[in-house]
Amino acid sequence: MPGVLVRMPDMLNRCYNFGFTQSSFTQRDGFLKPTRARNPMHPWIADRTNAFDSSGIRKVFDLAAKLKDPINLSIGQPDFDVPDEIKSATIEAIQSGKNAYSPTQGIGPLREAIASEVKELYSHADRDVFVSSGTSGGLMLAMLAMINPGDEVIYLDPYFVMYPALVKMCGGVPVPVDSYPDFRLDPAKIEAAITSKTKMILVNSPANPTGVTATEDELKAVAKIAADRNIALVSDEIYSRFFYDGKFSSPAAFNEQTIVIDGFSKSHAMTGWRVGYVHGPSAIINTMLKIQQYSFVCSPQPAQWGALRAMEVNLDGHIADYARKRDLIVDGLSDKFEIAKPGGAFYVFPKSPIASGAKFVEKAIEKGLLIIPGNIFSHRDTHFRISFAAPDETLHRGIELLRKMV
Ligand SMILES: Cc1ncc(COP(=O)(O)O)c(C=O)c1O
Repeated sequence: MPGVLVRMPDMLNRCYNFGFTQSSFTQRDGFLKPTRARNPMHPWIADRTNAFDSSGIRKVFDLAAKLKDPINLSIGQPDFDVPDEIKSATIEAIQSGKNAYSPTQGIGPLREAIASEVKELYSHADRDVFVSSGTSGGLMLAMLAMINPGDEVIYLDPYFVMYPALVKMCGGVPVPVDSYPDFRLDPAKIEAAITSKTKMILVNSPANPTGVTATEDELKAVAKIAADRNIALVSDEIYSRFFYDGKFSSPAAFNEQTIVIDGFSKSHAMTGWRVGYVHGPSAIINTMLKIQQYSFVCSPQPAQWGALRAMEVNLDGHIADYARKRDLIVDGLSDKFEIAKPGGAFYVFPKSPIASGAKFVEKAIEKGLLIIPGNIFSHRDTHFRISFAAPDETLHRGIELLRKMV
């Protein structure tokens, strides 16, 4: 509110709702005048953006930019390209004029194809589907649709970097639950973190940055806790296809109210195309759509036609290849580093051999190896993230260098 005069007293309550406190204002002549110091970077910057920053990851990329030919094990996307048939379907969509806005909820054929897959998995009476602007778009809409200022959101630490930022952007309170050293989803720890303010539990299996997968029993127990306590359960399933040992399971199988967020970015290497999808109870989906209508509008239409084609593409070869790369990196490092073997995604999260993970990563970067410090994903600075979505030759070079650093 800097720079505007607002009338008392009804505005007071509205301002407090958005996270302002009484000391943010002084009353003058029946008007409220903001007293809060303006943002030192620029006076127009909103207070809500002060609660989180992106300097950690920027620092790594700044260091990386100085490297000539880095051994790059930092990338959070597959090292294979978008399959040709998906590219062709998208080009064909563009050339045949499918370039306008799509319906907010996505093009009919894609939405129907996802809905029928979802129906086959879960025959829930009340489960609706829409196409989002990537999984990130779905996550943001989920927060905006469900989190009121002061609401608490529980998730495991280490976590995907976006989670605390999105919660804070909505005025919510992040409640990270420490999952070191094995990074398991422990239902007892989740239950212990619940308070009267808990609004949401956010699960992510397979997980970024650890690659750890939750067992069916763990997910079932968390699903039951959420249902019993009337807490929203959101499941980020972006890595569901990258599941190496056994079969992927979702908490939606055990809790009909689960909001599932998934997408095509990782599975089909379409990170730049921005196609994700969300399914869950229709009242929640309709609310998320209402916000999508006034923000993202829709996922890019040509990319949605590509995603429709992507649903027919067999990924077995890529998944088998990534399981092999997982073994290559785990076998290559586990006698020297403490590693929780990942069951999915394309990350490992080893413990740093020196006290600070960030210091270790700085040394690795000086030697030409690009990895990510664990403190970007965690309150602890003891680990580092390796992405094994890289050519075998790069993995071998990375393993060799890391082994020399211990
Ligand atoms: C756990 C997790 N969720 C969501 C996303 C975002 O995916 P998208 O490209 O679909 O927005 C990522 C990307 O790294 C991720 O790791």
